[in-house]
Amino acid sequence: MIAIYPGSFDPITLGHLDIIERGSRLFEGIIVAVLCNPQKSPLFPVPHRLVQIEACTQHLPNVTVESFSGLTVDYARLRKAGAILRGLRVLSDFEKELQMAHTNTTLCKELETIFLATSTEYSFLSSSVVKEIAQFGGVVDHLVPVNVAQDIYRCFNKTPPAVTLNTTIK
Ligand code: PNS
Repeated sequence: MIAIYPGSFDPITLGHLDIIERGSRLFEGIIVAVLCNPQKSPLFPVPHRLVQIEACTQHLPNVTVESFSGLTVDYARLRKAGAILRGLRVLSDFEKELQMAHTNTTLCKELETIFLATSTEYSFLSSSVVKEIAQFGGVVDHLVPVNVAQDIYRCFNKTPPAVTLNTTIK
């Protein structure tokens, strides 16, 4: 069975990569599907995210990367995928993910959503956390694949770490 792994991946994190690597051992093929969402103003444009994901999944022969717009279920049908793969980090993810899985089932009952528990070392990690650290010039090497860290440093034009003290001296 082919599974799609949909998401924003802005940027892809080591947590995402962990799900892709583990998913690639469970499924015949994984398609990492990057959502084109015109409502969001992203850090990296979709074509750049595709290049980033392709570079860090090169070691996984059954993983491909594509972008899509519209409904995830329609994209899954187009690619003849039988499952949607998602990672679950913490309890707060569960509510949103379950709602999404149930919604998708109402739209396409043949499509299963399969959750993988995120590895504990990445349970705190999200793309938003990475962006927050990056905008203040923090180190992100332990959070994202090497090529993505380089892109982030280039994007923010910073050599980490950078600390500014905003205290008032009496
Ligand atoms: O990385 P994200 O932002 O958590 O991914 C969310 C994503 C892309 C999986 C979700 O927003 C999605 O499937 N969007 C496509 C629109 C859609 O199918 N909506 C119905 C399901 S709620």
